[in-house]
Formats: sequence, C-alpha cells, structure tokens
Amino acid sequence: MSIAIITSGGDSAGMNPAVKRFVEYAYEKNETPYLIYDGLEGLIDNKIHKADPQKINDIVHRGGTMLRTSRSKRFFDIAYRQQAYDNLKANKIKKLVVVGGDGSFKALNQFYADFKVPFVGIPATIDNDIFGTDYCLGVDTALNVIVQSIDSVRDTAYSFRRAFVIETMGRHSGYLALVSAIASGAEICLIPEIKPDFATMKKRLQKTLADGKIYLMAIVAEGTEKANYLTEWLEVELGMESRLTTLGHIQRGGNPTVFDRLQAYEFVTFAIDGLLNGHTNDVVVYKSSKYGYKSIEEVSQKPQDPRQMLNPKYLKQGTELSR
Ligand code: F6P
Repeated sequence: MSIAIITSGGDSAGMNPAVKRFVEYAYEKNETPYLIYDGLEGLIDNKIHKADPQKINDIVHRGGTMLRTSRSKRFFDIAYRQQAYDNLKANKIKKLVVVGGDGSFKALNQFYADFKVPFVGIPATIDNDIFGTDYCLGVDTALNVIVQSIDSVRDTAYSFRRAFVIETMGRHSGYLALVSAIASGAEICLIPEIKPDFATMKKRLQKTLADGKIYLMAIVAEGTEKANYLTEWLEVELGMESRLTTLGHIQRGGNPTVFDRLQAYEFVTFAIDGLLNGHTNDVVVYKSSKYGYKSIEEVSQKPQDPRQMLNPKYLKQGTELSR
C-alpha cells in the first residue's frame, strides 16, 4: 500500500527527523512511502513524489521541514479538496500521516469527511497548545533557543542595570513564555491565560530592587500584546531604563534537540502503526509519559492551558511571576 506524509502549518524542529523515520519505517512495514511537498498547497498542486531513501539521509539534524509547508486557504474550498483527492487517487495513495497543528488536523478531518481518506496526525507546533497531548514536536528545541537567547540578553541587562522585556512566540498560548521564564528565573512573566495585576507586580518588583537586584528580566507571550506596554511601564513605574527584544522566527529554527528527534521517532512509529491498525482520523498524543491516540474532536475541543501541563511546584512560581 502507498502511504504519504505531509507537513502543514507552522514548521517546527523535529519535522525532518519525522520524515526520515516515516520513510524508513514505511519500508520496514513493506509499505511504499510518498512525500507531499509544500503542505496542503502541494497536495492540491500534485507535488507528490515517491520517497527516495537517499534523499532523507542528511536531514535528521536540520530544523524546519525539507518538505516545506504552507497555510492553505484554498483547502477550505471543496473544489480544491476534490483536486487534492484526485491527486492522491492518481498516485494510488491510500493513507496519510499529517505533521502539524490543530488547524491542519481540522482541515484533514474535513477531507476525511469528504473522501474517506484515513489519516493520523502528529502534533507539531512550537506553541504546544494542542489539547490532549502534553507535547508537540518542536517545543523542546524552541524552548532551548529561547532560553539561550534570554541568557544572552541577561548579560547585557546586568551590564547596563536595565530591565529587558523579551517577547516569545505563542499566538494564543503562554506555554513558551511560562516555561522559559521559569527556566530562566525571570522576575516577570505575562501570558494570555492570566490577567496581569500590575499594582501587585509593582510592589513586588520594588522590593526586589530594594533587596539589591540591579536588572530585571520579563518574558512576555506574543498573545498578550503587552510587550510594548510593559517596556514603557518599567520605565515609568520603576524608573528603569528598559529595552524590548522580540525573538520572532529564530524560535522556529535550530537543529532539533535529542528529545525532539526521539519524539519524532516515536510519534511516527505510532502514526504508521495506527494507520495499519485501522485508525482513520486520529492524532497521536503523548500524555503522562505514554503514547496513545485521540480523536480530532477531543484535541480540538478547547485550547491547552499551559498551567495544567506543569508540575504544580513550578506552576506556583510561574503563577506568581504573572501577577
Ligand atoms: O507556529 C506557531 C507560530 O510560530 C506562532 O507562535 C506564531 O504566532 C505564528 O506561528 C507565526 O506564524 P507565521 O510564521 O505564519 O507568521
């Protein structure tokens, strides 16, 4: 049987190791692996090729996705989904592995409803905001990039006695900001899930400064839209010279960490086994250190709350940071 892999939505480190494992494990199972390039756009435009094992030899260490990706608007249109289905039929592809986020899973679920093409999803987004899984591919690499960047900014913050606001990605989710703030011992952390209490924070920070701290680090999730405000607030309310660093897309790059490479290996193994065992439209999840499957409905029902994913011992610190 021919099965294909596609990467879709925001790229994340770990996608390349996933592609490598997909090709190798498919052959091991006597299935024929196909690669779909350019995400759902490529599925519509028939950018589908039988996998060449030679071409996946040097990708395990690379960030991004060698298959490239897209955020397809055309896939919302049934006429283009029909075109995508015709391409799969022409290539005799029976089943799909989809590496991406919530939006990609919903799109494929619609495709399944239309044409009954079975798929298994692998959660992959640096936002780590897919409900029902503790881990999405790429998060560990992104966090390591962020924490390394915070460490670098800290050097100059100390040297100038400044306050630094560092904005992390996370369109709607505070996971990256919260975890990196805890890992960096930052004094301030703002995430969209918690309403900030600036008056209480001011008192706490005044005490911190009175106790001898000469610089401050604040980690702010993109989804709060408060990075500029906080930078000015630190100048006005605390009288500290302040600067803002927006980390941006560097957070999506970088060589996948060992953890992400191993997660890619496990996720893909479960995805292919799932397809071969009759799963039709499920997502592989990693919950309480165990792999399993959940339906698209389950993982799409609500956003993941980062506070529920952390050990309460750390959470206490994280929650305090945000207030
Ligand atoms: O993939 C998730 C994410 O990195 C979000 O954190 C961010 O808001 C968004 O993607 C940025 O998307 P784009 O690269 O399309 O601008």
